[in-house]
Amino acid sequence: MEIIVVPSAGFCFGVKRAVNMALDAAKKSNLQEKLNTLGPIIHNPQVVKSLEEKGVYPIEKIDNGCHNALLIRSHGVKAEIMEKIASNKRLKVIDATCPFVKKAQNYISEAALNGYFVIMVGDENHPEVQSVISFADKNKFLVVNNIADLKRVPISEKLALVSQTTQDVNFYKRIIEDIHKIAKNDVTVFDTICDATMIKQEESKILASSVDVMIVVGGYNSANTNKLKNICMEIQKKTYHIETEDEVNPEWFVNADRVGITAGASTPDWIIERVLRRVRDIDTSD
Ligand code: F3S
Repeated sequence: MEIIVVPSAGFCFGVKRAVNMALDAAKKSNLQEKLNTLGPIIHNPQVVKSLEEKGVYPIEKIDNGCHNALLIRSHGVKAEIMEKIASNKRLKVIDATCPFVKKAQNYISEAALNGYFVIMVGDENHPEVQSVISFADKNKFLVVNNIADLKRVPISEKLALVSQTTQDVNFYKRIIEDIHKIAKNDVTVFDTICDATMIKQEESKILASSVDVMIVVGGYNSANTNKLKNICMEIQKKTYHIETEDEVNPEWFVNADRVGITAGASTPDWIIERVLRRVRDIDTSD
């Protein structure tokens, strides 16, 4: 059986950077007590557990017993939480906000200062969207997730557009076009889509169309892994989403010549390696 792993499978740049920052900080001797992350560092229970063994624990709120070091995860946090954190002088802050998310926050801050009404294209419940949009003026922003939402755009305002970093490029383009058609004032568009997601989805799509079985590795609570699974499933019905190698079922590979493996942005290399080894073992034990 030929087993092919998508080149971009696994951690994106921002997630890798955040996990490495957490590991480095946990190793430092001046952090005598535990390091906290605000929310799980990534949506992968195996990574969260392995970091806990190294002294890195997620908390839900900063006043919840966190008195030493706090790591801000790659999605970033709301502006008001950042201010609260900055005012707590006892707290050592490690800001692992992905630089691409930071860039979107900075664009919005500047647009708000210049009187723009900010429109963010994305999922309003996603932590990245909540963090980025919080940098807009409290009364001058709108999060849109579909074309119907555009009815709520205040067309006489100066409008600034940003998107969630993982947004579909074509959907963002469509929204930009539609807004240009209805706007009666200045429209400024910021390019805030990150290539990492797009590249991974494209590579996974191509691989899914040329294999007999496709395996998607990643947390069940990871939105980007679930999206990847859906994309692959549309092309290859024999697509299986797993978190660990223990879930690989030998029956999936009966009559299969080619197997593809992809993984979400929050799946570490060591889990992908284990899955690969497990599939190879099944193949050689036939
Ligand atoms: Fe950053 Fe892009 Fe990953 S925005 S967290 S590198 S998906």
